Amino acid sequence: MITQQTVEITRNEPISDGYHRIRLNCGMHYASATPGQFVTIRLPDQAEPLLRRPFSIHRLPSGDADTLQIEILYRVVGGFTRQLVRQVPGNELDILGPIGHGFSVRLYEHPVAIAAGGIGVAPLVFLAERLKQAGMDMNRVMVFLGGRTGTDILCEGIFSSLGMQVSVATEDGTAGEKGLVTEPLQKWIKDNNPKMIYACGPHPMLKAVGEIAQSHGIACEVSIETLMACGLGVCMGCAVSTNDAGEGYRHVCKDGPVFDARVLV
Ligand SMILES: Cc1cc2nc3c(=O)[nH]c(=O)nc-3n(C[C@H](O)[C@H](O)[C@H](O)COP(=O)(O)OP(=O)(O)OC[C@H]3O[C@@H](n4cnc5c(N)ncnc54)[C@H](O)[C@@H]3O)c2cc1C
Ligand code: FES
Repeated sequence: MITQQTVEITRNEPISDGYHRIRLNCGMHYASATPGQFVTIRLPDQAEPLLRRPFSIHRLPSGDADTLQIEILYRVVGGFTRQLVRQVPGNELDILGPIGHGFSVRLYEHPVAIAAGGIGVAPLVFLAERLKQAGMDMNRVMVFLGGRTGTDILCEGIFSSLGMQVSVATEDGTAGEKGLVTEPLQKWIKDNNPKMIYACGPHPMLKAVGEIAQSHGIACEVSIETLMACGLGVCMGCAVSTNDAGEGYRHVCKDGPVFDARVLV
């Protein structure tokens, strides 16, 4: 059930250059949230920005008996995120969620890849935790983290502490292999016969991952970002072209943000 609430901030900390993690005391209905779902946020009593901003649910750390905490990992890019970074514990946010259609979590016997580009890692940490809870053998989950530079590589320690192997690639070579995240992914696919690739990141990366998956006959789910206005399937602001049966488009906010990569044009 999507609920609008005013919630208290319990933490708001930098984790890398330009990236922060915020923790909020939310209602128990978030216990049924799935990885890939998101919330939309505004600052209470602030006229600007007018539109709520969408952010993926990054983690659900355990809270008190009658509350649940949710975490959001965010990159400071513009007006809203610059205001968010200044918020301190005890301040309040107006949030609406959980929204959208998330990743499918199954117990795969074959290897699974998780591919993240920069801030696209945000929902994939929640996904990794749910795969572990579902009983997936962590030795069979390989995580590929990519970014322009070393400070864009986030959450490597969280994936490692879950028991997953992590491969890092940066465009400038300041962390891990020099190059695009798709390069180590392609090499790994040849030796490991995976059955699923989960991905989130910039559109060109998702297009490349989708094409690699399709060429090897591997299922692939991608979480995509678009600009959003209502966030509730009402305004068409987030429509993307699709090639499945139907109207030729879908709403990212209502039908996504996670899609089977084959459906997206
Ligand atoms: C489903 C979904 C989940 C998201 N999850 C996260 C998350 O977990 N962490 C995170 O940091 N961000 C996430 N985003 C992006 C986030 O919503 C934007 O960064 C935020 O709205 C920027 O607000 P702002 O006012 O700070 O910047 P603005 O001033 O609105 O924008 C600054 C710049 O960023 C660009 N921009 C804004 N929104 C987007 C977008 N959705 N896609 C591409 N470019 C954009 C603008 O065109 C502009 O150039 C998500 C977006 C969607 C649709
Ligand atoms: S943002 Fe309005 S329909 Fe998706």
